[in-house]
This record gives sequence, C-alpha cells and structure tokens, in this order.
Amino acid sequence: MEFNKIAVNERAVKRNAKIEEAVNRIVRSYDGLKSALRVGGRKANYDDLNFEFRGGPADSIRKKHYDKSLRLLWKSEEHSPFLDFKDASTAEKSLFDMAVRSMTDEEKAARDRLAMPEFKELLNREYTVAQKQAIVNILAAIGHGEAYAWLVSAELLNEVESTGGRTALTMQVLEEAKHFVVLRELLMAFDVPIRRQSAWEYLLLESVFKADGLEKFFGMNVLVEGIALSLFGQMSTLPGLEVLRLFHLDEARHTALPSNYFREFPMTRWQKIRPSAQLRRLKMILPALPLIPLLEEDLAELGYDALDFGGSVLRKVSGLAEQTGFNLPLPRPILLKTLDALFNAYAKATREDHIPRSFMESEATVGDEELEVEREIFAAMNAA
Ligand SMILES: [Fe+2]
Ligand SMILES: [Fe+2]
Repeated sequence: MEFNKIAVNERAVKRNAKIEEAVNRIVRSYDGLKSALRVGGRKANYDDLNFEFRGGPADSIRKKHYDKSLRLLWKSEEHSPFLDFKDASTAEKSLFDMAVRSMTDEEKAARDRLAMPEFKELLNREYTVAQKQAIVNILAAIGHGEAYAWLVSAELLNEVESTGGRTALTMQVLEEAKHFVVLRELLMAFDVPIRRQSAWEYLLLESVFKADGLEKFFGMNVLVEGIALSLFGQMSTLPGLEVLRLFHLDEARHTALPSNYFREFPMTRWQKIRPSAQLRRLKMILPALPLIPLLEEDLAELGYDALDFGGSVLRKVSGLAEQTGFNLPLPRPILLKTLDALFNAYAKATREDHIPRSFMESEATVGDEELEVEREIFAAMNAA
C-alpha cells in the first residue's frame, strides 16, 4: 500500500514517548501499590499487557456460552410476530418467508403469522378468563424474576474473570433483557391484571441480588433459573405460549454456566463448604417453599399439582447446586427426604384422602424437546 508519509519532528516524537513512559511508570506503580495495600488501585480487571481480561482467554467458556448463544439467538419478531418487536434482520425475514412459501396450505394456516388481534382471539378461544388469570399469575412470578435476572447478571459481569467468562455473562445480560421485555408484552396481551411480586418472591430475589460476589451464581443460575426451567418446561406446550420453549432453552444454558465457569476457575474447598455461605444459600432457598402453596390455586386451575411442581423444582435445584459445588447445610438425599416429609404433612393437613408419595421424584417439564434439553444439561454435568 502506498501512503503519502508525512515528515515529523523526530526529537518531539522521542520526547513525547519518554514523557508517556515516565507517566505510565508512575501511574502503574501508584495503582499497583494501592491495590497491594487494598486501598484502591486500578478498577478494571483488565490485562492490557496481554490484551485479555484478568484470568486469560477461557476460550472454552466463550465457545460454550457466547458462540452458542449467538447460534441460538432468537428474535421475537419471528417467534411471536403479534408482539411489538422489530428485531429480525432482512435476511431472517426472507428466510422465514421462503420457509412459509414451501409449506402446504394447511401448514401455512397452522404457522400463520398472527397479528395481535388474532392472538388475543386465540387466547380467548383457548382459555376462560380464570385460566388466563392463572397463567398470568404464574408467569408474572417468573416475569419479575427475569427483571432480577437482568439486574443480577449485569452485576455478575463484573465479578467473573477472563475474557471467555465475560462474553458468557454478556450474552446472559442480553438474553435476560429479552426475556423480561418479551414476557412482559406477552402477559399484557392476556388482558387480565398482572400481579405484583409476592412477599416470598420479593425476599428471594432481593437476597439473590444482595448475595456476595460469585454466590450470586447460586442464587440466580442455580436457584432462580432452576425454578424458571420447571415453569417454562411446564407451560411451553400450552397454546399461544410456544415462545416459552425458547426461554427454556436459554435458561437451560444459563444453569450450566456456573459449572462451566468453575471448571476453569474452581472454587476453593472452603468457599464451597464455609458454614456461613451454606446457611446463606439455605436462606435464599427458604422463601421458595411458601411460594409453592401460594401458587397452588393457580396451578390447580390449569391441572397442575403445586406439590408435584415444587418437588420437581427442588430436585433440579438441589441437583444443580450439588453438581456446581454449592454445598448446602444438609446432604442432598437427606434434604430431599426432609422436604418430602414436609410436603406430605402439608398434603395430609389440606387434602382429603392423601396417600403419601414422593413429590421430589415428580417431573414438571412436559415437552419432549424440553425434557431432552434438560437431560443433556444434567448429563453434561454428570460427565464433567
Ligand atoms: Fe431469563
Ligand atoms: Fe436466565
């Protein structure tokens, strides 16, 4: 390449470089000393010398989360065209149109791009007002959770080490933002009141947001995502709620993030078993327990048993916690036995002719694809 090189003052260039070197030495050693004394120093955990974030590249986390998230990135305009999102690219829209053109008339009718009035008609045809209200009550709980997932993942972004870790969290922030705004519009389309957070959700989500450092991984990616996995897995087969299948896929990936991260940056044994940390984890889980009977009426309206649902959630959450290395004050088999005894006592007190059974063995997820996704997540963890 031919450039018209301009002559510069060599002495000035050298002097400028020397000044910069001197200032650099002062700034770096001053900040180095402050951080050694733990009274400040460089704020960014960025390693400009190696053009990496501290912790190195961690390419395998990047591939498993950032690359995969981009491969599976879905657009609301394509999957819920009745909502007010214009997020699909021209190429994606023409691909969709080509797919529709190659369908038979019957397939076309089934996959027709609904506008909002037709979507509302579909909801009114499929559900009674009481059923619509029950769906919205249940999904509002997770909708408020999405708001917190967005908040928490944005904070975790600055807690994780390595370039790969940051790319993974960056995608989670993007996906939680999408989950919140899309779910919010979806629920508003039901035209029934959307309820506030219950006291139990408030306590649970605030304690997750306030958790120290990487303990947020337990609160968010294990506990809250574990609940979300069961809820989306249960409701994605309902008419009009098919888009929840994509939420489920995203949340499944998020539940795998802590174990992939800790494989590269392991927790110390003390971090896993520290009694105060174990107690705080238990404290985060506790508000989820009264949430189960609180949702009982709404789940029952749709034919779901709240205790089966709760058992499925707690089995998955405690499994994820164990596999990730977040120890709880009780070993998992004893915890699950205790919870089963508690659930059966509640059922005995509130239900006629209750026959004791293991609620912890029940499975809330319904769709075949969703079950397969969960099997993969748990199998991958077991193999690790
Ligand atoms: Fe989410
Ligand atoms: Fe998530």
